[in-house]
Amino acid sequence: MRLSARIRYEDNVFIDCHREIFTVRGVNLSLLGLKVKDKALSVCDHEDVVVFIELDEEVSLRGKITRFREDEFVITFNEDPELIASTVGKYLSSRIYKSGMCPFCLKKIENREKYCRRCGMFFDYTKPEIVRFIQEFKVGKIFYDLLVEHPEEIEEKLEEKEEFIGISKGIKNVFNLIRKYATNDYPVLIIGETGTGKELTARAIHERSKRAGKPFVVVNCAAIPENLLESELFGYEKGHLQMPTGER
Ligand SMILES: Nc1ncnc2c1ncn2[C@@H]1O[C@H](COP(=O)(O)OP(=O)(O)OP(=O)(O)O)[C@@H](O)[C@H]1O
Ligand SMILES: [Mg+2]
Repeated sequence: MRLSARIRYEDNVFIDCHREIFTVRGVNLSLLGLKVKDKALSVCDHEDVVVFIELDEEVSLRGKITRFREDEFVITFNEDPELIASTVGKYLSSRIYKSGMCPFCLKKIENREKYCRRCGMFFDYTKPEIVRFIQEFKVGKIFYDLLVEHPEEIEEKLEEKEEFIGISKGIKNVFNLIRKYATNDYPVLIIGETGTGKELTARAIHERSKRAGKPFVVVNCAAIPENLLESELFGYEKGHLQMPTGER
């Protein structure tokens, strides 16, 4: 999963490794860090470094270095969101808008939208809040919070939502019909043997209809006396009350 756009950055950058300066070749740049390719950096024994990089103007950013492969290193920036947003963020956004396409899915960008209409990738990294969110976003932590800290909520959610499943030709046809009839106002009669998913089908139509935000009411007609059913379904009108046969 990629939260921050990554762009190619194939210029020289200077790395200050405890007063020893290395000139290395950049590979790509994101809000989180810079990837560089150069064997020379192997002799840098320290984790903490300072990167000098040209981002429209020369900036220096503190970071932590991690070896990726033999000659590839990643320097993760270790700076405040405010500084990252006003340097790397600003540069990333201007490069993305200048290129005119989403760096992730390559969709054309029209009207300087804030995120990609196709893949949802952010384009505007100039706000510290966005940088903070991306820096703090840890998939593992989120799973832990959800599954270990709040398992009841997850279970509730899973129970709430019954998934409609099936891959056979017949059920795929049902899915197509659901999509087709959910978008218009035709009354739909669903027939089938018991337990074959008639209610699930009705729910699926409701969820995709323009009335999705309104209640889905299930009426068990078989449990209502025949002469009360009309009032139950269409409302009671004075003078037309129909009493069950036995109570007349
Ligand atoms: N394709 C399906 N995918 C997942 N669950 C299904 C599917 N078909 C049926 N089920 C499950 O089987 C059970 C019966 O489904 P449902 O209540 O929709 O059937 P029904 O046709 O209305 O049955 P009845 O005629 O007895 O009222 C439900 O728990 C439903 O979630
Ligand atoms: Mg049913």
